[in-house]
Amino acid sequence: MRISIKDDNIGKYLNAKALKKADEAYETLVSGKGPGSEFTGWLNLPEKMLSDTEKIEEAAIRIRSNSDCLVVIGIGGSYLGTRALLNYIKSISYNSLKKTTPDIYFIGNDLSTDHISEVIEQIGERDFSVNVISKSGTTLEPSITFRIFRELLKMRYGDDAKNRIYVTTDKEKGLLKEEADREGYQTFEIPDDVGGRFSVLSAVGLLPAAVAGIVIRRILKSADSFMKSDEGVALAKKYAGIRYSAHKDGKSMEIFSAFNPKLRYLGDWWEQLFGESEGKEHKGLFPASLLFTSDLHSMGQYIQDGKRLFFETFCHVAHENTEISIPYLEGDQDRLNFIAGKDVSYANLKALEGTEIAHLEGGVPNIRITFDDFSEETFGEAIAFFELACGISGYMLKLNPFDQPGVEKYKRNMFKLLGKEE
Ligand code: PA5
Repeated sequence: MRISIKDDNIGKYLNAKALKKADEAYETLVSGKGPGSEFTGWLNLPEKMLSDTEKIEEAAIRIRSNSDCLVVIGIGGSYLGTRALLNYIKSISYNSLKKTTPDIYFIGNDLSTDHISEVIEQIGERDFSVNVISKSGTTLEPSITFRIFRELLKMRYGDDAKNRIYVTTDKEKGLLKEEADREGYQTFEIPDDVGGRFSVLSAVGLLPAAVAGIVIRRILKSADSFMKSDEGVALAKKYAGIRYSAHKDGKSMEIFSAFNPKLRYLGDWWEQLFGESEGKEHKGLFPASLLFTSDLHSMGQYIQDGKRLFFETFCHVAHENTEISIPYLEGDQDRLNFIAGKDVSYANLKALEGTEIAHLEGGVPNIRITFDDFSEETFGEAIAFFELACGISGYMLKLNPFDQPGVEKYKRNMFKLLGKEE
């Protein structure tokens, strides 16, 4: 197990009643008898994908051989997990790394002309391919963006453009699937029984990951083992039980305080996972992710002394890939020689420990989730852990964690205002 939870700062939140409820919710989840159970295919997704990696790996080899850049178009569940994966296992500045794999640009996750123009400019004259990801095949942001990049590909490659378009979508439904079949684009399936925010371990996340040289089988194997292990399930129940108690205690927010920039998009993915799954029927903790130590210098004041709204989940990675020791300075002008020779990550850990104590004293109960390292295996466990905890937690709140009726409401207004006919 590459994940642990430190729970000595939450007092009464970890109790037998909450754990019993978590047990019951887990049974509902795996029995397939809960609301929305037709969308629990993510429970077996790592195992299923393990027998289906060849096609993804072949496409990744092709993209690596003929493209300097891959443009990944998608939004929400068709974007955040993929970015979290690349960010966690590779780097927040993946494109700037010295590497032999293509640059990867994420786009289609907003409606900004400048953002699109910047990506086009960054690609420049370099060869590129496009991976458009949309389960419904009709989402406005990726659809508009795909129109633009489809045109660019056609202008540059003519008839060969179709060999540079990779579509990740529903197996049979949707406009994108129809187009892909008509035009002969290579397609990858987002399974029917897996919703967007649970789809990162399908081709949604795995194709861009394989293009970046990430060993996708290592992610899948470890996610699969975690989902099926008693220890993994117990850890997810524990987290769900603690969240439930915080909710019961009247907390209205959970802050995900990540102590490493490589966790930034994991935090964004986590926000969507819990926010879209639980924000229903006027229930659910509002999930907000922050990046420490930087946000301690902007949001720290409110957390310490502002309105008492929240419970906090610190997230930390025990071993970074590199070590940098703090240099000794002759004369000690900045008065830092007392930590000379220590690794920077030691200072980070002490900042975390100091923050935990301060926030607890300020009335913010907190837990610490520690991930061992930035490996494929640990990422696989992290995804399995949060997904399991989310399914359990949603059922503890007695709601359907697998739909998102609220997301449709703004879309109806937007399309009406844009003049779309019914
Ligand atoms: O979780 C969800 O269902 C949403 O966030 C979707 O993933 C998002 O709206 C994108 O939808 P689609 O993949 O259909 O383009």
